[in-house]
Amino acid sequence: MCGIVGYTGPRAAPETLIGNLRRLEYRGYDSAGIAVVVDGSLQSLKLPGKVQTLADRVAVEWTGTPAEGSRCGIAHTRWATHGPPTEANAHPHFDASGRLALVHNGIIDNYADLRRQLEARGHVFRSDTDTEVLAHLLGSLGFADDPIGALCAALRQVEGTLGIAIVHADRPGRIWVARRGSPIVIGVGEAETLVASDAAAIVAHTNRVIYLDDDDIAELSAGSIEVRTAHNTPVSRTVSQVDWDVRAAEKGGFEHFMLKEIFEQPESLENSMRGRLDPAAGTAKLGGLAMTPREIADVRRVVLVACGTSLHAGMVGRLYFEDLADLPAAVEQAAEFRYRNPILSPRDLVVAISQSGETADTLAAVREARQKGAALCGICNVVGSTIARETGRGVYLHAGPEIGVASTKAFTSQVAVLLMMALKFGRCRRLSREAGTEIIEQVHALPGLVRRVLELNERVARAAASLADARDAFYIGRGLLYPVALEGALKLKEISYLHAEGYHAAELKHGPIALLDPSVPVVALALDVPGRDKMIGNIQECRARGAPVIAVVTEGETTIGGIAQETIELPRCAPLVSPVVAAVAMQLLAYHVARLRGCEIDQPRNLAKSVTVE
Ligand code: F6R
Repeated sequence: MCGIVGYTGPRAAPETLIGNLRRLEYRGYDSAGIAVVVDGSLQSLKLPGKVQTLADRVAVEWTGTPAEGSRCGIAHTRWATHGPPTEANAHPHFDASGRLALVHNGIIDNYADLRRQLEARGHVFRSDTDTEVLAHLLGSLGFADDPIGALCAALRQVEGTLGIAIVHADRPGRIWVARRGSPIVIGVGEAETLVASDAAAIVAHTNRVIYLDDDDIAELSAGSIEVRTAHNTPVSRTVSQVDWDVRAAEKGGFEHFMLKEIFEQPESLENSMRGRLDPAAGTAKLGGLAMTPREIADVRRVVLVACGTSLHAGMVGRLYFEDLADLPAAVEQAAEFRYRNPILSPRDLVVAISQSGETADTLAAVREARQKGAALCGICNVVGSTIARETGRGVYLHAGPEIGVASTKAFTSQVAVLLMMALKFGRCRRLSREAGTEIIEQVHALPGLVRRVLELNERVARAAASLADARDAFYIGRGLLYPVALEGALKLKEISYLHAEGYHAAELKHGPIALLDPSVPVVALALDVPGRDKMIGNIQECRARGAPVIAVVTEGETTIGGIAQETIELPRCAPLVSPVVAAVAMQLLAYHVARLRGCEIDQPRNLAKSVTVE
């Protein structure tokens, strides 16, 4: 969603800020803006549209002016929430004096009340945004004279989420940042300081970063970083090392980030598994879980909460926990969780699954679970993310940065981590060492299996041609492959804009089969795993209605080949790891359909990489 960058140091701020802003484009946005401090005044430009358009305007209007050489500024990409993507609504926003510029991620829930109060005192607003209210509020609280005092006072008044960066014309070379529920990362450079809402924006400059805690405020200059709490108490925050470099956030010769990330999966899976499997003991070592065998044995139920693709991984995880750990498991849409009355106890373990670690609904579910006294843990990819911090313990994916908006490598790593977690839980309960060791062999085989699926790229690209002209499609599966059918359909929808429905293969005849005809292709996940025999019947049902079937089968399959229009043969694999093997083929299929349809694959319309609003 929205992205923030800031810079203070010896280099030209406009160029640095725009370069860093480009690295946040993947998050999805609809307008962009920049403000720099020049000779005791502010220069700013903002507009609806792309960062490139902003860069062009900056080149035309600022080249040869003092703004070009400014050493300090902030910039933003906005994903519209309050008000349409217009120039007026784009960030930065300004206070009443026009000397304070602010960029903001998150939502100020009580902005309407604050706006009314400020309007009553003569403030005039130029935008529909909640952010402009915050800028005026800070100005009215005396930011010009006492920035930290004004920030502390503002944090007491605002409700909602914020990650902000501010510059002021009176204080060249300084940036103020604050966070509450929306990430702010400070990059510690050589005589320069950078700010971003996402480390991907600044790793090209430094891999030494400080992740602010909630309600932290910081005053930054090129050579100093002073962090305080919202009560104005100085605190020290540790400098962490980002363990991936700028290449991980670049395309590396691939046409799209999505394709690069699909092809990275043998390595990302290896990274998720590294040092975590103990074949001799037949179990997994997940130190971050921080649970003793006794505590694990005491868990009465696992509740997996997540959204979107992560929810689909959770659906696979649920089957793992039931199967390997004999443990009741539920999977819950995070968006609904706190609006029901979930029955939770301290013996329920709520597992929040989130690539970004910032998804608003998943975070709210974590808070609801904590409120109800449940035990918590997270499965996140982004280190230091809000969900990772608020759950306090869990398992990182270590899949590396995921830039493509459509989640790919995070899904397969989530499934692998859930499998390892269920294995560990199983070993603390009823699973034998031999059974554990066998599962470890299956997990170890995964990177190799995925490599073999990737070798089928051309084959999948050919199959994509039979989907590309359709208006509607169905994806069907059973058991462990049912969540993959949902995920395959989601991938297709989001990047190719082709309407696709994921269905349990048996559910098709309870209604949606009415939609089948020769113009509606069906992708049938029919690997040689439990459920295959029933899938054959379901494929026949589709064919009988004239629907073309693309069947995803295990190599050597003979029966289904004679029924389906097309078959994609995947390597033979153990049932437990089949969701990963099938998912990679589904990712490739969606990618090639989107490519054939000429879609903007890495930044699909209306979508954002991390969904920080409810
Ligand atoms: C789909 C996709 C989304 C995310 C969802 C949750 O490709 O990426 O459905 O899975 O927004 O995001 P995280 O995992 O960051 O919580």
